[in-house]
Amino acid sequence: MCIRDSDVDACPMKPDLKTEIPGPRSRELASNLSEYESRNVTYMDESWPVFWEEAEGVNVWDADGNRFLDFTSAFGVAGLGHRHPEIVEAMRQQSGRLLHGMGDVHPTALKGELCARLSALTFESWGAGKGKVVLSNSGFEAIETALKTARLATGKAGVMAFSNGYHGLGYGSLLGTDLEKFRGPFVDQLAEVTTRVPFGSTDLPEGDQIGAVLVEPIQGRGGKILPPPGFLAALRSWCDTHGALLIFDEIYTGFHRSGSWFACEREDVVPDLICVGKAMSGGFPISACIGKAETMDHWPVSPGEALHTSTFLGNPVGCAMALKSLEILGRAETISLVEETSAMLERQLGKFSHEAVVEIRGRGVMWGVELDRPAGPLLAGLLAEGLLFLADGPQGNVLSFTPPFTITEGEVSHALGVINRLLG
Ligand SMILES: Cc1ncc(COP(=O)(O)O)c(C=O)c1O
Repeated sequence: MCIRDSDVDACPMKPDLKTEIPGPRSRELASNLSEYESRNVTYMDESWPVFWEEAEGVNVWDADGNRFLDFTSAFGVAGLGHRHPEIVEAMRQQSGRLLHGMGDVHPTALKGELCARLSALTFESWGAGKGKVVLSNSGFEAIETALKTARLATGKAGVMAFSNGYHGLGYGSLLGTDLEKFRGPFVDQLAEVTTRVPFGSTDLPEGDQIGAVLVEPIQGRGGKILPPPGFLAALRSWCDTHGALLIFDEIYTGFHRSGSWFACEREDVVPDLICVGKAMSGGFPISACIGKAETMDHWPVSPGEALHTSTFLGNPVGCAMALKSLEILGRAETISLVEETSAMLERQLGKFSHEAVVEIRGRGVMWGVELDRPAGPLLAGLLAEGLLFLADGPQGNVLSFTPPFTITEGEVSHALGVINRLLG
């Protein structure tokens, strides 16, 4: 495991490439995959993808033995670094005892522990009393739980959501997601209940039928867009006045990604419901919708059949990994690591300049470098140099920096040097 400040040999600053990228094995695997996987899923061209085989800390090895530096945390999941040894151990121990329980029928003690921990980290820590939780698997499912909760609690079907927002791709979460490329082909199957408002606007419409206001406290996939001061507070007061629930989607921003446990803490605004996922377990598909207890109690007591559940809800391996991950995230050393890495990224990105850069923005360990051009060719060039990056924004022109918290200054400065060179 590469730990910050450890010896450079154990965590070398530069990638280690043994073949052209993608290498022969990755090419062969891509050709096999393309025969059997829906062609819409894995993007493939002559420069992309590499097939991952192993990862540790900020390092990823592919099927050809090349070592890459990961500036994505694999979609924001591996904040603590890939394959954190304590999380792996928690997973190993749990999988030796029970791989799967009966989430809403015969649950495990771990499920109760995790719900209590999530309550403690959110509403209890914000002085808002107990929280209650519905666990699920993917982020979008947590959003759909939140939308259903708002429907039950308010009796109102309308949803206020924001331009450029991303909340996942299920039919329910597409009520919130704004990106046309995802909604377009299915829009005629979506209920017309969404009022779309510019992200950041405090000029909010009237809407007696709106029961849910769904927002990312910092837009992630939309291009790392920070909320203008007062925006989240204005949403809070709109919800209070109009009898709607405020839902914060912290699936991306949660668990220190934005520099604090949750991005809403920086703005000092308490939602009615918060959705989390991604980094919660460090690598197991598990997510949660957490709400104030009195809000969640609008769900009826289960009469023997839950209104909203799924086969893998509260999977014990996922719960064990999440509990370990939350414990590590809560340690003083993790919190100071996040502070140092946040300051380091701000410092390094603050020094970066190139004529192709339109704006550099972000907070904590989530930053975007907006370019005057699509980032696709740059991503391929970076991959060929052993640097894993993704791009965000509706035009795909925001180079995203969301590395594991353990990324070093040397690694960031190396990457920025390569970016500068590739931008020409
Ligand atoms: C803010 C936000 N909400 C929801 C989701 C959807 O999560 P998932 O892909 O796990 O369904 C994402 C995924 O990127 C996200 O960034």
